[in-house]
Amino acid sequence: MLPGVYEVLWVILPAWMANSWAINVKGLPLLKNFSTPIDFGYKVNGKRILGDGKTWRGLFGGVSAAVFTSYIQMQFQPVGMPQMTLTLGFLLGFGAVLGDMVESFIKRRSNLERGHPLFLMDHLDYIFGAFFMAWLVLPVDLGYLLIASFLTVPVHFIANIIAWKFKLKKNPW
Ligand code: CTP
Ligand code: MG
Repeated sequence: MLPGVYEVLWVILPAWMANSWAINVKGLPLLKNFSTPIDFGYKVNGKRILGDGKTWRGLFGGVSAAVFTSYIQMQFQPVGMPQMTLTLGFLLGFGAVLGDMVESFIKRRSNLERGHPLFLMDHLDYIFGAFFMAWLVLPVDLGYLLIASFLTVPVHFIANIIAWKFKLKKNPW
């Protein structure tokens, strides 16, 4: 049976926040100079492992935003919705950032430079990652993934255009 849209929205929120704050943290003046790439610039066969677009700042910023969001949600836990916990928030956040990293890894192996658009993969990489990790504590099924994907594509599309306008992203995708 398909889960309700509100239920999916409730669960997906920390993942959305993780993805957006992995980008937004670079706008914080205090963190301006913390742009060390996760792969420390290492190359394998002449190609970067992840590239300069995946930083430790983004990783910690994204995971922290997800945990913070889950904490807020716990204060407003509605009856009948999946129980939000800090563990679930962490898994959703870490999974989201990880999913995004997997995509960058695939891009670099395929000779695609930083920022190269991959339609739908750019939008859904982190949703797959988030649900994959959340699976450890939440029985997510394909229905979840389907509804989450439908909800995420337009939200991600609009959010990215805003981030691009604010010069947080180099491209509007
Ligand atoms: N970002 C970051 N660390 C992360 C994820 C994102 O610092 N773990 C920041 C980077 O400044 C990145 C921006 O968020 O440029 C947008 O993320 P994304 O679109 O995923 O990166 P791209 O620059 O498009 O690089 P890639 O081709 O590897 O996806
Ligand atoms: Mg990208």
